[in-house]
Amino acid sequence: MQSFELLSQKFALHFERPHFPPEPSSLYRPNEYFLQLGGKRIRPVLCLMGNELFDDINPDAWHVSTAIELFHNFTLIHDDMMDKAPLRRGNETVHTKFGESTALLAGDVMLVAAYDYLNEINTSYIHSVISLFNKTAREVCEGQQLDMDFEKADDVSLEDYLHMIELKTSVLLAASLKLGSILGGASQRNQNLLYEFGKKLGIAFQIQDDYLDAFGDPEKFGKETGGDIKANKKTVLLIQALATADASQKKELKKLINGNGEGKTQKVLQLFHDCKVNEWALQLKNRYLDEALNHLEDVAVLSKRKEPLMELAHFLIHREN
Ligand code: IPE
Ligand code: IPE
Ligand code: MG
Ligand code: MG
Ligand code: MG
Repeated sequence: MQSFELLSQKFALHFERPHFPPEPSSLYRPNEYFLQLGGKRIRPVLCLMGNELFDDINPDAWHVSTAIELFHNFTLIHDDMMDKAPLRRGNETVHTKFGESTALLAGDVMLVAAYDYLNEINTSYIHSVISLFNKTAREVCEGQQLDMDFEKADDVSLEDYLHMIELKTSVLLAASLKLGSILGGASQRNQNLLYEFGKKLGIAFQIQDDYLDAFGDPEKFGKETGGDIKANKKTVLLIQALATADASQKKELKKLINGNGEGKTQKVLQLFHDCKVNEWALQLKNRYLDEALNHLEDVAVLSKRKEPLMELAHFLIHREN
């Protein structure tokens, strides 16, 4: 079994090559720009680990992990446009640097490039791989639409939120693991347990993402902090603050989020602190991590083989970027 660090390095080397032709450079340069900014590459590594849990890593797993990372980058390019985000991975977002029309097309063609890699798969598993990939892609779109709808809604419950993040974020982590395990010849039961592990882990991951957006260190985070507050995102922090605030805090919070007044971010952050939602979110995140690890425990392979996944799970939810 290879450690998280080693597999990340191997994937980085494997992925580090042009994925697009040179011309027209006005379309493809933005994509190469975005890809070389890096990122944590956790989804492809999850796929490789899901594969290695059952067998030596096979070439198909490399193709699928590459497709997954391209798909993820496509979602980020479009997400940054939807969220009006100026920064990603410590640099300008694609639409900020190259314009919205280019970002739209660059994302589209990145999705097509992902399918080119899927098309390289050589086994009878291709149909299950494409079905799961497509189901996941559809769900991410659904989650992203709910995320946008919730910006304008003022009665989003914790349950609604969990459903939304499961779609926009968790299913891709879950599918990455399951795709690797399918290609490794895992039993249906083991595939499903890994999928559940990924779903719970993905929820913890998005809770941490919301937390960092509000309380992260801007030097390390790589994205604009306070972006979610500015955009009225119904994050886990805001939902819990609205649920626990007293009447006057609640009135103030509602007034703040429905406006765009001077010092909005600072004032909302202060209310988050007053309602102690930062501590609460970290507890909730740890609950989901524990649930995730329980599913991993049930996967029927030697526990030694699961160590890299456990390491990755802990890294993910203590991350600072
Ligand atoms: C960002 O994903 C999008 C979310 C689902 C929160 P990552 O935090 O994995 O982004 P990169 O690829 O490492 O930049
Ligand atoms: C993004 O959620 C999920 C997808 C990209 C599908 P966020 O909007 O919270 O992700 P960041 O914070 O921009 O990375
Ligand atoms: Mg975003
Ligand atoms: Mg978003
Ligand atoms: Mg976010």
